[in-house]
Amino acid sequence: MNETPESERTAPQDAPFSHAAGPNGKPEIGRDRVSAWWLRLDDIGAGDWPLLETLLSDGELTRAQRFHFDRDRDVYIAAHALCRALLTRCAGGPPRDWRFTVEDHGKPEVVAPAGTPRLRVNISHTRGLAAVALTAENDIGIDVEWLQREAATEQLAERVFAPRERQVLADAAEAQKIETFLTFWTLKEAYVKAIGKGLSQPLDAFHFDLKTLAIAFDDPEVDDPATWQFARWRPGPDHLMALAVRHPDRARLEISAGPVPLDYLRALAGS
Ligand SMILES: CC(C)(COP(=O)(O)OP(=O)(O)OC[C@H]1O[C@@H](n2cnc3c(N)ncnc32)[C@H](O)[C@@H]1OP(=O)(O)O)[C@@H](O)C(=O)NCCC(=O)NCCS
Repeated sequence: MNETPESERTAPQDAPFSHAAGPNGKPEIGRDRVSAWWLRLDDIGAGDWPLLETLLSDGELTRAQRFHFDRDRDVYIAAHALCRALLTRCAGGPPRDWRFTVEDHGKPEVVAPAGTPRLRVNISHTRGLAAVALTAENDIGIDVEWLQREAATEQLAERVFAPRERQVLADAAEAQKIETFLTFWTLKEAYVKAIGKGLSQPLDAFHFDLKTLAIAFDDPEVDDPATWQFARWRPGPDHLMALAVRHPDRARLEISAGPVPLDYLRALAGS
């Protein structure tokens, strides 16, 4: 699925990446372009796992071996392979060579090759699904959640949602509660991940309007809602995904998202 939120975009003032030709010949990322991929673990064949592991760094392989549960290890491998594959697709070079620094609250940032725009990437993983989003220069965050998870939604919302969001959740039909809760949750997480603060940012200091996907801040000095673009997808029956991108002129933003081409992943791993 590809999606370009909002109206037709004007010509981007972008520094294109040479390896990044998209379906219509345009680069897939740049200051005005965001590319997101997801990977459902059900779509990965038994023979694919060793291939995916060849995309990871030694440090990631070591970390992957430390997970207690196979499902946590698998989704970690999928997410990090996806991240490296998207970076290579858009900016070239071997997937294993990408290096990251870690910011104060744990956000990894790409060490960009000299002379290229600053690449900005974020990953998310949940039961059965991994996702990655990539752009240049601008803050970006992504979050995916598993819809089947058991959650005491209203009690949790009481602690972390803004009053208006709690009201929307309270008004939702019983069958819609978990999806409504996770829709807010993915948007909120995407935002706190985009600004790099993670859960150190109080989640009830801002709220979303689910119809417009607009954000609002209790303290208007904190951040400017007009600079934020949000989008959301349903990568499969059991998952929700949300994206947050900061951009000085949202009208120029082009966002494309969809399942990773598995053949590309396999070819990359085999090369
Ligand atoms: C970031 C955070 C919101 C992730 O939430 P989550 O829903 O459990 O996890 P997701 O799967 O969506 O995202 C995890 C990925 O986000 C990235 N990430 C980690 N910290 C991040 C941050 N502060 N901002 C953005 N992205 C972050 C990492 O790539 C991580 O994957 P990895 O651990 O496999 O490398 C949460 O773990 C958090 O708030 N951490 C902050 C902890 C902190 O403040 N630590 C300070 C000392 S380092």
